[in-house]
Amino acid sequence: MAKKYYITTPIYYANSRLHIGHAYSTIACDVVKKWHTLFGRECFFLTGMDEHGEKIFLSAKEKNIQPQEWVDRMAEDAKKLWKFLNISYDDFIRTTEPRHEKTVQYIFKKIAQKGDIYKGVYSGPYCVSCESYFTEAQVRDAGGNCPDCGRPITEIKREEAYFFRLSKYQTKLLKFYEENPDFLMPKDKANKTLDTVKSGLRDLCLTRQNLEWGIPNPLEEGMTIYVWFDALINYVSAIGYPCNLEKFNEIWPADCHVVGKEIFHFHTVIWPAMLMALDLELPKMVFGHGWWTIKSEKMSKSKGNIITPYEICEKYHPDVLRYFFMREVPFGQDGAFTEQRISERYTSDLANSLGNLFRRVETMCVKYFDGRSPCSGKVNEKFLKKMEKIIQEGEKQILTLKFSRILEGIWEIIDETNAYIEQEKPWTLKKENPQKLQDVMETLLTVLNFLKDVLYPFLPEKSKEMSQHLGFEISKPQARNFPFNKKVPGGEVLFPVEK
Ligand code: ME8
Ligand code: MG
Repeated sequence: MAKKYYITTPIYYANSRLHIGHAYSTIACDVVKKWHTLFGRECFFLTGMDEHGEKIFLSAKEKNIQPQEWVDRMAEDAKKLWKFLNISYDDFIRTTEPRHEKTVQYIFKKIAQKGDIYKGVYSGPYCVSCESYFTEAQVRDAGGNCPDCGRPITEIKREEAYFFRLSKYQTKLLKFYEENPDFLMPKDKANKTLDTVKSGLRDLCLTRQNLEWGIPNPLEEGMTIYVWFDALINYVSAIGYPCNLEKFNEIWPADCHVVGKEIFHFHTVIWPAMLMALDLELPKMVFGHGWWTIKSEKMSKSKGNIITPYEICEKYHPDVLRYFFMREVPFGQDGAFTEQRISERYTSDLANSLGNLFRRVETMCVKYFDGRSPCSGKVNEKFLKKMEKIIQEGEKQILTLKFSRILEGIWEIIDETNAYIEQEKPWTLKKENPQKLQDVMETLLTVLNFLKDVLYPFLPEKSKEMSQHLGFEISKPQARNFPFNKKVPGGEVLFPVEK
């Protein structure tokens, strides 16, 4: 059996409500999943929740409930949100599930047996909020604060601990990056990783004492496993490692781990080293996308400037948010999140260009052909070529997550089709050249039919509406003639504009 295309989101922390930023990564993965599925390829899409660690323990405590109850609620909320946003994930992994905990302990033991986990003493600054250990130098450079979140560092930890021999993997990692130039994506993020690894890697502290809300160290009581070691393993625990190797081998290695740029390091340095220690294949690509910002600051729960998808969708259909995300900035770059920009995109791209095109063609279809597709029409060659080009290029662009480029290509054909109507003036052809009118109409319906298919990953519900308008099921995008003499039911305006 052919290997499935495997794409993952980060597993989000269960410590507070999910926002636009989380929706962004998840929607991006869903677009990829829907694209491959539409083209008839098997794709496995994993998302989930990161449920251990001090931050989560503290959030639960604050609310006066048991941590398990708290994470149960958070996981339910997440699933509800993904349903609301039309996300078709194949599995939702939670790090408190036995299937995951068992795998983490198995992996811990396996790496220890190999000699790459050893016992020592940890001493150093620790940020409670980020659950990260830092070096003295890092904290000094940050003025006594956490280099990541900027909060004051109040804890120096000194305790017996287990370490992962990350330093051992420096040369192997560098060799891997060199031999796999598509692993670090987008390319402009590669240098930072290369510099970090070249400057030398310190062994990674893997355990904590006195923190009960974590997976127990299988080698020694009274210690739990560091959340990042625990969390990264979700990508293999969810697909059957090590109990169901048949399933695992159908899916692993991951084709693409989608992550925000702030956790690129964990996925491009620590995770590959862990996989090397396990003698498992490495992922094909880690894509570090940019941040949505509010007034030039990263939107984040710690900054308290979050917007939830529900707030946006009080006014806009979830498809509109999805379209905005995929179109507004090239995946990889940061973007300013403003309602103004969503509104502009809605009016110009969706209502005026796409929605209007459907309305015009449907109206003409009723007016000139009694609401049926014309007989014996010919499709304009130029448009057939354009559709083929969008497919060919899109198939490549989707592999490097160039969503905005795909959409630009699609909007070119939308604009050209609107221009084609102006140019051919079907309203004059009715009398002057009825044969030509049939050809024009056939071309228009063919383009619309193509649009409803190719836009499905980007506008899943609206594309279903388009399909009802045309009376034709969504299927694999192809540049093919619209069927003859078929009823074209039409329908409500796709993207209404308030007056
Ligand atoms: O880091 N813009 O979880 P997390 C774009 N549990 N994307 C954003 C964003 C923003 N402003 N804010 C968040 C964790 N994200 C760990 C991950 S994986 C093994 C463990 C997205 O809840 C982006 O994908 O802090 C980012 O990497 C992720 O949410 C962080 O979610
Ligand atoms: Mg974060």
